[in-house]
Order: sequence, then structure tokens, then C-alpha cells
Amino acid sequence: MSATASDSIMETGTFVNCFLLVISLVIIPVNGGYDKERDALLKGTFPQDFIWSSATAAYQIEGAWNVSDKGPSVWDTLAHQDNNRDTGDVACDSYHKYPADIQLMKQMGLKYYRFSISWPRIFPTGEQQDGVNQDGVRYYNALINELIANDIQPMVTLFHWDLPQVLQDRYGGFLNNHTTNTTVIHDLFGDYARFCYQNFGDRVKYWITFNEPWITSWLGYGVGNFAPQHNEPAEGQYKAAHNIILSHAKAYHIYDDEFRAAQNGQVGITLNCDWGTPKTPADADAAIRYVQFFLGWFAHPIYKNGDYPEVMKTTMARKAQEEGRTTSRLPEFTPEQKLSISGTGDFFGLNHYTTVEVTDACCTPIENPNYDTDKDVGTGHAPDWPRAASSWLYVVPWGIRNLLGFIKEEYGDPEIYVTENGRSDHDQDPAIMMDMERICYYMMYTNEVMKASNMDNVKVKAYTAWSLLDNFEWLSGYSERFGLHYVDFNDPTRTRYPKASSVFFKQLVRNNGYPEGSEFTKYVENMWYFCHNTTEAEVNGYTGGASQISSLFSLFLAIPMMIAYSLIA
Ligand code: BGC
Repeated sequence: MSATASDSIMETGTFVNCFLLVISLVIIPVNGGYDKERDALLKGTFPQDFIWSSATAAYQIEGAWNVSDKGPSVWDTLAHQDNNRDTGDVACDSYHKYPADIQLMKQMGLKYYRFSISWPRIFPTGEQQDGVNQDGVRYYNALINELIANDIQPMVTLFHWDLPQVLQDRYGGFLNNHTTNTTVIHDLFGDYARFCYQNFGDRVKYWITFNEPWITSWLGYGVGNFAPQHNEPAEGQYKAAHNIILSHAKAYHIYDDEFRAAQNGQVGITLNCDWGTPKTPADADAAIRYVQFFLGWFAHPIYKNGDYPEVMKTTMARKAQEEGRTTSRLPEFTPEQKLSISGTGDFFGLNHYTTVEVTDACCTPIENPNYDTDKDVGTGHAPDWPRAASSWLYVVPWGIRNLLGFIKEEYGDPEIYVTENGRSDHDQDPAIMMDMERICYYMMYTNEVMKASNMDNVKVKAYTAWSLLDNFEWLSGYSERFGLHYVDFNDPTRTRYPKASSVFFKQLVRNNGYPEGSEFTKYVENMWYFCHNTTEAEVNGYTGGASQISSLFSLFLAIPMMIAYSLIA
């Protein structure tokens, strides 16, 4: 889309978009799943010090992939493998355009920003002894300083999947020697973390060691469709996860021992998990097993007792027997390692997007075992769950409340930072600028987070929207858009344009939730049934099959309100 075209979308073209939206609404499947009690709108506000933020990651937005001495990462390698692939070579060009990004955050009233540092932009080979890229250090200093000058707190992820390629080649990356105490990768990650604390820790008070180690372990080293594309689905993920957990613990202790007293910040890890809901009551244990293999794999050692969940250990021990192995495919931590891992999170970072329905699939012997079959579960989706553009993303708002409750109970009531949550659209022409489905997603999910906070007493301290910008969506390239802001990837200047959801999010932040009686809450009330794709009449029991018609009525109510909000924003 050209700059002129998108300008006009924000101005005179709004009605054209609304028309398109009406068309798209007609094809949204009717969702009969509204539960009057579970799904009702909660009015109220988050605690006063609640953190509203938005997130990005280095490889997904920075571009400048080979500027100065930056070394290649495993994602540069993957993206360059074939010419037809989208790459992160330029992405949103945030390496050059970060001041514009910061103005977008300011516009939305955000006081926090979660971004990641690219390890090979700091140490081109991943090893400090081989040299430091001073331009990379300058870039992150400039970004952090600009954030602080605009009253925005940086929340920094050290590893969002872009491992230096040289470390993969030299040491096997996170497969490095996973059963010994002298694993090189732990020390190298520790050195990198130390360097970041030393250089940026005077201004950065929130550190996230790893983003979603589940993805790196399973998709990167198990099935191997993500970088570095190591295919070893029986064991690769368990070895990589083992190393990542130990590397995380190392980075945590370095902060604790060498920096905490002077810098007074916090260090945690961000774990992702889909909520698993049992398909029938008989599947309840299977659903718990699903969550333990997913979240517990990392959270149990770090936030509970230094070791993998019991159900994972016993399941994997049984599998070893069945497979005629003398040892489990799940590695063991030594007693010293357990001690050093346990309690290494000042907060619990959570990325959550979706929910699956779980069925028990115990215990069919499998010829080629892998992490998916190890869990002894089947997964599916209820027919009435609406879908986003990403094939895996079903919209199930109540899932996040359940997951937050599970974390509270299971891990001793930690402070939880929701470090990602969001919804994708397809890349299409004309662009989706009146992104009502994203507005609905944020509305419904944040309301569920507020229920967790205010009704269930979960200590949720932060909510982070993924993402500030449309960006490089990994294997999907630029075909899926998660942004609150539209980025035109055909425009060399990569101009950013606010979508309607950024206006909604701004109002949400300003209201700190859904306060009783506010104009914003009235707008949300009017939208509520439309967003749940049902009608008030249906909810109250007078069904007349008029769902689509009433939804359209809500929409017509919604559009003028949306426009009004754009004007006052
Ligand atoms: C990742 C992001 C990704 C998002 C949407 C999360 O798993 O941290 O990098 O873009 O999900 O797929």
C-alpha cells in the first residue's frame, strides 16, 4: 500500500473500510459459546501502578542485518536460504527509525516498552573475546536514552531467538554438551548478559533472559522448522531446554552477585503457554499434563524446585522403559544445578495467545517418539472459537484467566508480567486499518486479565500488547500482521500508520481498565456482544436466530463511536 493510499484510509477512506468491515463481519462464523457469567464484562480498574506496555523483538523489527560489524544470527541464515523467503534484512528499519517508534508509544501514553537486544549485534561471533561491535552498543544506548527522555521505561529481553550463527557452528548452540557442568554456552550467555548489565543496567531495570524457550527448544532443536533448524524430535528439545534453563540461571546469578546491589533491577524469564482445557471431564488430567509439559517444563525448575515437573519425569521414565532405553530422554539436573536454578525469577514473564482443547491419548506405544507424542494428549479446538490469521491462533479470552490462576496456584503466587498477547490479521489489500477484530481481542483479553487481578487476586503487574508494529512474523514473513501500527513494507521509508486498535489501546491505558461510568466503558459495553459475536437477546435467552443482524446493528453503533474516539484521541 502506498503512503498516499494509507493516508486517505485514515481520513476520507474510513467509510470504505467500514463497509469492508461489514462485509467481513458477515463471514465471521456465529459463535454460540457465550457464557453469561464467565464472559460478562467486568467494570473496574487495574491497580494504580499497573504497567501497560507494547513489545517487539530485534530480528522482527530492526533490519540493518549486516550494518557495521553485526554478525549473522541463525535467523539471518534461515531467511537467506532461499530467495523466495521474506527476510529481516530491513524489516521495519527500526535500527534507523527508533525515534519514530518511540513517538508512537508516546502517542498511546505507554510508559514501558519491551524490546530485545540482538546478541550478534553486540558480539558478532557471540563471544566477547572475539570483539565487540561498538556501533551496536551505541545503537542500544541511543534507543534506551531516547526512551528515557520520553519517560518510557525499557524492559529488555536478552535473547529473542537470534542466536549468533558462529555459536551454532562452533558449539552446536544450545545443544552444546548438555550433560556436563562445563558447558560453554552457559558461560557465553553469562558473558553476554554481564556485558548488557554493565553497559545498560544503569538505565534498564527489567531484564528478561530468554523469550519463549519452548519455541527455541521444540521448534528450533526438535522439529527444526525454526532456526537453527536442527531436526531431532526425540531428544533435541530436551537437551536445548536443559541448557537454556541453566544459561538463564547463570545470567540470573550474575545479576544477583555483581549488579543487583548497585542497579536494583529485576530479572525474570518469559515463558509461553497455550491454556489447555479438557474436552470432557475425563480429560482433566490430560489437560494438566499438557500444561505441565508446556509451561511446567521451564516454570517448575525456575519457579518451584529446580527440577522438571513430576508428571514429566514419570511419563518420560515410563517411555524410556517402553522404548528399551536405559536412561530417560529427559536429562537430569545435578543437585547443585537444582539449587542454582530454583528461585531464579524476580517476576514471571508470560506470553499467551490462545487455548486448545485437550483429550487424553494415553498410552499408545509410538514408533518414533517426539515431544508431541510424549505428552500422551490429543489437541483440538471447539468449533465456535473464532480464528485469527495465524493458523494456530484461536480467540478464547477466558483461557488467559485460567492460565493466570494456574500460575498463581502452582508457582507460589508470583508477580506476573504478561509480556505478550495479541492477534494477527492477514496482509491484504486494502490494508486492515479499522482492525475491529484486534480491538475486540484486546478488549476481551484485557478484561479477563482484570478479572484475574481483581476477582482472583492474581498478582498480574503488567500487560504488554504484541506488537507495537507489524513486523517480520518468523516463518510467515510479512504475511501476518500483529501490529497496533501498520507498516508499509513496500515503502522504502517504512512509514508507520496507526490502526484503530492503537486508538483503542490508548483509551484503555488512559482509563487503566474499564471504570464504571466512563465514556470509554460505555463504548466497550456497546461493543461487548458484537465482540463476542453474539447478541444480548441470545445471552438473555430470547433467541430468534437474529445473531448476525444484531451484530451488524452493534457494528453500526460501534463505527461512529470509533470515529468519535479517533477524533478525540
Ligand atoms: C513471539 C513473537 C511472535 C508472536 C506471534 C511470540 O511467540 O515471542 O516473536 O511474533 O508470538 O507469533
